Amino acid sequence: MISCSAPGKVILFGEHAVVYGKPAIALAVDRRVRCKMSKANEKTTVNGYDINYQHHSYILKCIEKTGVSDPLKITTVSDLPSGAGMGSSAAITVSTLGGLYNLKGFSELESIAKDAFQIEYEVQGGASPIDTSTSLHGSAVMVYEKEMNNLLWTIEKDGKVWNVHHIKIPDIHIVIGDTGIGAPTGPLVEKVRRFYSKSNFAKEVIEDIGNLVLEGRKALEEEDLHKIGKLMNKNHKLLSILGVSHPKLNGLVKAAKRYSYGAKLTGAGGGGSIVALTEHPEKVASAIEERGGTPYILDSSKNGLKVEQTSK
Ligand code: PMV
Repeated sequence: MISCSAPGKVILFGEHAVVYGKPAIALAVDRRVRCKMSKANEKTTVNGYDINYQHHSYILKCIEKTGVSDPLKITTVSDLPSGAGMGSSAAITVSTLGGLYNLKGFSELESIAKDAFQIEYEVQGGASPIDTSTSLHGSAVMVYEKEMNNLLWTIEKDGKVWNVHHIKIPDIHIVIGDTGIGAPTGPLVEKVRRFYSKSNFAKEVIEDIGNLVLEGRKALEEEDLHKIGKLMNKNHKLLSILGVSHPKLNGLVKAAKRYSYGAKLTGAGGGGSIVALTEHPEKVASAIEERGGTPYILDSSKNGLKVEQTSK
Protein backbone atom coordinates (compact mmCIF):
# COMPACT_ATOMS: atom_id res chain seq x y z
CA MET A 1 0.00 0.00 0.00
CA ILE A 2 1.16 3.49 -0.71
CA SER A 3 -0.35 6.84 0.22
CA CYS A 4 0.77 10.15 -1.30
CA SER A 5 -0.53 13.68 -0.89
CA ALA A 6 -0.12 16.90 -2.86
CA PRO A 7 -1.23 20.48 -2.15
CA GLY A 8 -3.51 22.90 -3.96
CA LYS A 9 -2.32 26.29 -5.17
CA VAL A 10 -3.31 29.89 -5.68
CA ILE A 11 -1.91 32.15 -8.37
CA LEU A 12 -0.44 35.13 -6.55
CA PHE A 13 0.75 37.16 -9.53
CA GLY A 14 0.77 37.08 -13.31
CA GLU A 15 -2.29 35.14 -14.56
CA HIS A 16 -3.15 35.91 -18.20
CA ALA A 17 0.16 37.70 -18.80
CA VAL A 18 1.80 34.26 -18.46
CA VAL A 19 0.03 33.24 -21.69
CA TYR A 20 2.23 35.86 -23.47
CA GLY A 21 5.53 34.59 -22.06
CA LYS A 22 5.52 36.81 -18.96
CA PRO A 23 6.32 35.34 -15.53
CA ALA A 24 3.68 34.15 -13.05
CA ILE A 25 3.96 33.08 -9.41
CA ALA A 26 1.82 30.51 -7.60
CA LEU A 27 1.85 29.52 -3.98
CA ALA A 28 1.21 26.04 -2.57
CA VAL A 29 -1.49 26.01 0.13
CA ASP A 30 -2.05 23.81 3.14
CA ARG A 31 -5.05 21.95 1.78
CA ARG A 32 -4.22 18.68 0.10
CA VAL A 33 -5.46 15.76 -1.93
CA ARG A 34 -4.51 12.31 -0.62
CA CYS A 35 -4.32 9.30 -2.89
CA LYS A 36 -3.98 5.80 -1.43
CA MET A 37 -3.42 2.73 -3.60
CA SER A 38 -2.90 -0.98 -3.11
CA LYS A 39 -2.89 -4.02 -5.37
CA ALA A 40 -6.34 -5.42 -6.14
CA ASN A 41 -7.36 -8.84 -7.40
CA GLU A 42 -9.34 -8.29 -10.58
CA LYS A 43 -9.97 -4.73 -11.64
CA THR A 44 -9.01 -1.18 -10.82
CA THR A 45 -11.47 0.78 -8.71
CA VAL A 46 -11.52 4.40 -7.54
CA ASN A 47 -13.38 5.09 -4.30
CA GLY A 48 -15.26 1.81 -4.76
CA TYR A 49 -16.33 2.38 -8.41
CA ASP A 50 -14.87 0.74 -11.52
CA ILE A 51 -12.44 3.23 -13.04
CA ASN A 52 -13.88 5.10 -16.03
CA TYR A 53 -12.85 8.10 -18.11
CA GLN A 54 -15.98 10.11 -17.40
CA HIS A 55 -15.36 10.31 -13.66
CA HIS A 56 -11.66 9.52 -13.32
CA SER A 57 -10.03 11.12 -16.36
CA TYR A 58 -6.92 12.36 -14.53
CA ILE A 59 -6.32 9.10 -12.66
CA LEU A 60 -6.85 6.99 -15.78
CA LYS A 61 -4.32 9.12 -17.69
CA CYS A 62 -1.84 8.73 -14.82
CA ILE A 63 -2.16 4.94 -15.06
CA GLU A 64 -1.70 5.01 -18.86
CA LYS A 65 1.31 7.32 -18.62
CA THR A 66 3.15 5.26 -15.99
CA GLY A 67 2.25 1.94 -17.63
CA VAL A 68 1.20 0.32 -14.33
CA SER A 69 -0.82 -2.67 -15.50
CA ASP A 70 -1.75 -4.39 -12.21
CA PRO A 71 -5.30 -3.83 -10.98
CA LEU A 72 -5.37 -1.33 -8.13
CA LYS A 73 -7.69 -0.25 -5.37
CA ILE A 74 -7.40 3.55 -5.35
CA THR A 75 -8.92 5.85 -2.74
CA THR A 76 -8.79 9.64 -2.92
CA VAL A 77 -9.64 12.13 -0.20
CA SER A 78 -9.56 15.87 -0.82
CA ASP A 79 -9.85 18.84 1.46
CA LEU A 80 -9.62 21.21 -1.50
CA PRO A 81 -12.87 22.63 -2.81
CA SER A 82 -13.14 21.89 -6.53
CA GLY A 83 -13.95 24.66 -8.99
CA ALA A 84 -12.67 27.47 -6.74
CA GLY A 85 -9.39 27.91 -8.64
CA MET A 86 -7.31 26.07 -6.06
CA GLY A 87 -5.80 23.48 -8.36
CA SER A 88 -7.63 20.35 -7.22
CA SER A 89 -7.13 18.57 -10.57
CA ALA A 90 -3.39 19.24 -10.44
CA ALA A 91 -3.21 17.92 -6.86
CA ILE A 92 -5.10 14.75 -7.81
CA THR A 93 -2.77 14.22 -10.77
CA VAL A 94 0.42 14.80 -8.79
CA SER A 95 -0.59 12.64 -5.80
CA THR A 96 -1.70 9.79 -8.11
CA LEU A 97 1.51 9.94 -10.15
CA GLY A 98 3.49 9.97 -6.89
CA GLY A 99 1.83 6.72 -5.81
CA LEU A 100 2.14 5.00 -9.20
CA TYR A 101 5.78 5.94 -9.68
CA ASN A 102 6.53 4.76 -6.17
CA LEU A 103 4.99 1.36 -6.97
CA LYS A 104 7.44 1.22 -9.87
CA GLY A 105 10.34 2.18 -7.60
CA PHE A 106 10.97 5.43 -9.47
CA SER A 107 10.54 8.97 -8.22
CA GLU A 108 12.37 11.46 -10.39
CA LEU A 109 10.63 14.81 -9.81
CA GLU A 110 11.31 16.28 -13.22
CA SER A 111 9.63 13.30 -14.95
CA ILE A 112 6.63 13.59 -12.63
CA ALA A 113 6.45 17.34 -13.44
CA LYS A 114 6.45 16.64 -17.18
CA ASP A 115 3.90 13.83 -16.99
CA ALA A 116 1.59 15.81 -14.68
CA PHE A 117 1.66 18.80 -17.04
CA GLN A 118 1.02 16.60 -20.08
CA ILE A 119 -1.96 14.93 -18.35
CA GLU A 120 -3.58 18.28 -17.45
CA TYR A 121 -2.90 19.48 -20.97
CA GLU A 122 -4.58 16.43 -22.50
CA VAL A 123 -7.60 16.33 -20.19
CA GLN A 124 -8.22 20.10 -20.32
CA GLY A 125 -7.17 20.60 -23.95
CA GLY A 126 -4.45 23.08 -22.93
CA ALA A 127 -2.69 24.22 -19.73
CA SER A 128 0.41 25.93 -18.44
CA PRO A 129 2.56 23.91 -15.99
CA ILE A 130 2.03 26.35 -13.11
CA ASP A 131 -0.64 24.33 -11.24
CA THR A 132 1.05 20.92 -11.51
CA SER A 133 4.57 22.23 -10.81
CA THR A 134 3.41 24.14 -7.71
CA SER A 135 1.57 21.09 -6.40
CA LEU A 136 4.64 18.90 -6.96
CA HIS A 137 7.27 21.26 -5.58
CA GLY A 138 5.36 23.08 -2.81
CA SER A 139 6.49 26.48 -1.44
CA ALA A 140 6.08 28.80 -4.44
CA VAL A 141 7.11 28.57 -8.05
CA MET A 142 7.63 31.12 -10.78
CA VAL A 143 7.15 30.05 -14.39
CA TYR A 144 8.81 32.19 -17.03
CA GLU A 145 10.04 31.77 -20.57
CA LYS A 146 13.39 33.18 -19.42
CA GLU A 147 15.70 31.14 -17.23
CA MET A 148 16.48 32.66 -13.82
CA ASN A 149 18.18 31.48 -10.60
CA ASN A 150 16.80 28.42 -8.76
CA LEU A 151 15.60 26.61 -11.86
CA LEU A 152 13.70 23.42 -11.01
CA TRP A 153 12.87 22.10 -14.47
CA THR A 154 11.99 23.19 -17.98
CA ILE A 155 8.82 22.14 -19.76
CA GLU A 156 8.30 22.57 -23.50
CA LYS A 157 5.17 22.12 -25.57
CA ASP A 158 4.06 23.33 -29.00
CA GLY A 159 7.01 25.72 -29.32
CA LYS A 160 6.41 27.22 -25.85
CA VAL A 161 9.02 27.01 -23.11
CA TRP A 162 8.28 27.30 -19.41
CA ASN A 163 11.20 27.45 -17.00
CA VAL A 164 9.93 26.56 -13.55
CA HIS A 165 11.80 28.15 -10.62
CA HIS A 166 11.70 27.69 -6.86
CA ILE A 167 10.82 30.77 -4.83
CA LYS A 168 11.43 31.14 -1.14
CA ILE A 169 8.32 32.34 0.69
CA PRO A 170 7.51 33.71 4.12
CA ASP A 171 4.86 32.00 6.29
CA ILE A 172 1.73 33.78 5.18
CA HIS A 173 -1.97 33.63 5.88
CA ILE A 174 -4.22 33.88 2.91
CA VAL A 175 -7.96 33.90 2.55
CA ILE A 176 -9.72 32.80 -0.60
CA GLY A 177 -13.13 34.30 -1.36
CA ASP A 178 -15.12 32.19 -3.80
CA THR A 179 -17.78 34.14 -5.72
CA GLY A 180 -19.61 30.90 -6.55
CA ILE A 181 -19.75 32.11 -10.15
CA GLY A 182 -18.38 29.44 -12.46
CA ALA A 183 -16.16 30.84 -15.20
CA PRO A 184 -14.25 28.45 -17.47
CA THR A 185 -10.68 29.54 -18.21
CA GLY A 186 -10.74 29.11 -22.03
CA PRO A 187 -13.19 31.90 -22.98
CA LEU A 188 -11.44 34.38 -20.64
CA VAL A 189 -8.04 33.62 -22.18
CA GLU A 190 -9.71 34.14 -25.58
CA LYS A 191 -11.24 37.47 -24.50
CA VAL A 192 -7.82 38.78 -23.46
CA ARG A 193 -6.32 37.47 -26.71
CA ARG A 194 -8.82 39.51 -28.78
CA PHE A 195 -8.02 42.66 -26.79
CA TYR A 196 -4.28 41.98 -27.02
CA SER A 197 -4.33 41.45 -30.79
CA LYS A 198 -6.12 44.77 -31.43
CA SER A 199 -4.68 47.12 -28.86
CA ASN A 200 -1.23 48.42 -27.99
CA PHE A 201 -2.72 49.52 -24.68
CA ALA A 202 -3.51 45.87 -23.81
CA LYS A 203 0.07 44.94 -24.73
CA GLU A 204 1.33 47.61 -22.32
CA VAL A 205 -0.91 46.27 -19.55
CA ILE A 206 0.49 42.76 -20.10
CA GLU A 207 4.01 44.22 -20.00
CA ASP A 208 3.19 46.03 -16.72
CA ILE A 209 1.90 42.80 -15.19
CA GLY A 210 5.13 41.03 -16.22
CA ASN A 211 7.26 43.71 -14.52
CA LEU A 212 5.07 43.60 -11.42
CA VAL A 213 5.60 39.82 -11.11
CA LEU A 214 9.37 40.27 -11.05
CA GLU A 215 8.93 42.84 -8.26
CA GLY A 216 6.63 40.38 -6.51
CA ARG A 217 9.30 37.72 -6.60
CA LYS A 218 11.76 40.07 -4.89
CA ALA A 219 9.18 41.09 -2.27
CA LEU A 220 8.42 37.42 -1.50
CA GLU A 221 12.10 36.61 -1.08
CA GLU A 222 12.56 39.67 1.14
CA GLU A 223 9.42 38.69 3.11
CA ASP A 224 8.08 42.23 2.60
CA LEU A 225 4.37 41.62 3.18
CA HIS A 226 3.37 45.27 2.69
CA LYS A 227 5.04 45.32 -0.72
CA ILE A 228 3.49 41.97 -1.69
CA GLY A 229 0.05 43.34 -0.76
CA LYS A 230 0.52 46.54 -2.75
CA LEU A 231 1.58 44.56 -5.78
CA MET A 232 -1.49 42.30 -5.41
CA ASN A 233 -3.74 45.39 -5.43
CA LYS A 234 -1.98 46.71 -8.52
CA ASN A 235 -2.23 43.32 -10.24
CA HIS A 236 -5.99 43.29 -9.60
CA LYS A 237 -6.37 46.74 -11.20
CA LEU A 238 -4.41 45.66 -14.26
CA LEU A 239 -6.49 42.47 -14.59
CA SER A 240 -9.66 44.59 -14.34
CA ILE A 241 -8.38 46.77 -17.19
CA LEU A 242 -7.88 43.59 -19.23
CA GLY A 243 -11.58 42.88 -18.69
CA VAL A 244 -11.35 39.69 -16.64
CA SER A 245 -12.76 40.93 -13.35
CA HIS A 246 -16.44 40.85 -12.36
CA PRO A 247 -18.50 43.12 -10.06
CA LYS A 248 -18.67 40.36 -7.45
CA LEU A 249 -14.89 39.86 -7.59
CA ASN A 250 -14.41 43.62 -7.18
CA GLY A 251 -16.82 43.61 -4.23
CA LEU A 252 -14.94 40.78 -2.50
CA VAL A 253 -11.57 42.46 -3.14
CA LYS A 254 -12.88 45.71 -1.64
CA ALA A 255 -14.30 43.93 1.42
CA ALA A 256 -11.12 41.88 2.00
CA LYS A 257 -8.77 44.85 1.59
CA ARG A 258 -10.07 46.49 4.77
CA TYR A 259 -8.19 43.90 6.85
CA SER A 260 -5.47 42.82 4.40
CA TYR A 261 -2.09 43.78 3.02
CA GLY A 262 -3.67 43.33 -0.40
CA ALA A 263 -6.18 41.35 -2.44
CA LYS A 264 -6.80 40.40 -6.05
CA LEU A 265 -8.70 38.00 -8.24
CA THR A 266 -6.82 34.73 -8.67
CA GLY A 267 -6.81 32.48 -11.74
CA ALA A 268 -8.73 33.20 -14.90
CA GLY A 269 -11.29 35.63 -13.35
CA GLY A 270 -14.74 36.39 -14.77
CA GLY A 271 -16.01 34.74 -11.56
CA GLY A 272 -14.06 32.19 -9.53
CA SER A 273 -12.13 33.49 -6.52
CA ILE A 274 -10.11 36.27 -4.96
CA VAL A 275 -7.04 35.85 -2.77
CA ALA A 276 -6.19 38.16 0.14
CA LEU A 277 -2.96 38.34 2.14
CA THR A 278 -3.63 39.16 5.79
CA GLU A 279 -2.71 39.00 9.47
CA HIS A 280 -6.44 38.85 10.30
CA PRO A 281 -7.85 35.84 8.44
CA GLU A 282 -11.02 35.60 10.57
CA LYS A 283 -11.92 39.25 9.95
CA VAL A 284 -11.29 38.88 6.22
CA ALA A 285 -13.36 35.67 6.13
CA SER A 286 -16.31 37.47 7.82
CA ALA A 287 -16.02 40.42 5.41
CA ILE A 288 -16.08 38.02 2.45
CA GLU A 289 -19.11 36.22 3.86
CA GLU A 290 -20.98 39.50 4.41
CA ARG A 291 -20.41 40.28 0.72
CA GLY A 292 -21.91 36.92 -0.27
CA GLY A 293 -18.68 35.01 -0.96
CA THR A 294 -17.47 31.70 0.50
CA PRO A 295 -14.21 32.15 2.43
CA TYR A 296 -11.41 29.59 2.88
CA ILE A 297 -8.67 30.42 5.37
CA LEU A 298 -5.37 28.92 4.24
CA ASP A 299 -1.67 29.05 5.01
CA SER A 300 1.16 28.73 2.56
CA SER A 301 2.73 25.27 2.45
CA LYS A 302 6.40 24.43 2.07
CA ASN A 303 5.50 20.82 1.24
CA GLY A 304 4.79 19.63 -2.25
CA LEU A 305 4.30 15.93 -3.08
CA LYS A 306 4.68 13.82 0.06
CA VAL A 307 4.85 10.05 0.40
CA GLU A 308 2.86 9.57 3.59
CA GLN A 309 2.85 5.81 4.01
CA THR A 310 4.26 2.74 2.31
CA SER A 311 3.88 -0.92 3.21
CA LYS A 312 4.01 -4.26 1.44
O1 PMV B 1 -8.03 29.09 -13.74
P1 PMV B 1 -6.65 28.80 -13.24
O2 PMV B 1 -6.46 29.00 -11.78
O3 PMV B 1 -6.10 27.50 -13.72
O4 PMV B 1 -5.71 29.93 -13.90
C1 PMV B 1 -5.68 30.25 -15.26
C2 PMV B 1 -4.48 31.11 -15.50
C3 PMV B 1 -4.41 31.72 -16.88
O5 PMV B 1 -3.22 32.50 -16.90
C4 PMV B 1 -5.58 32.63 -17.15
C5 PMV B 1 -4.35 30.67 -17.98
C6 PMV B 1 -3.10 29.82 -18.00
O6 PMV B 1 -3.16 28.71 -18.59
O7 PMV B 1 -2.05 30.22 -17.49
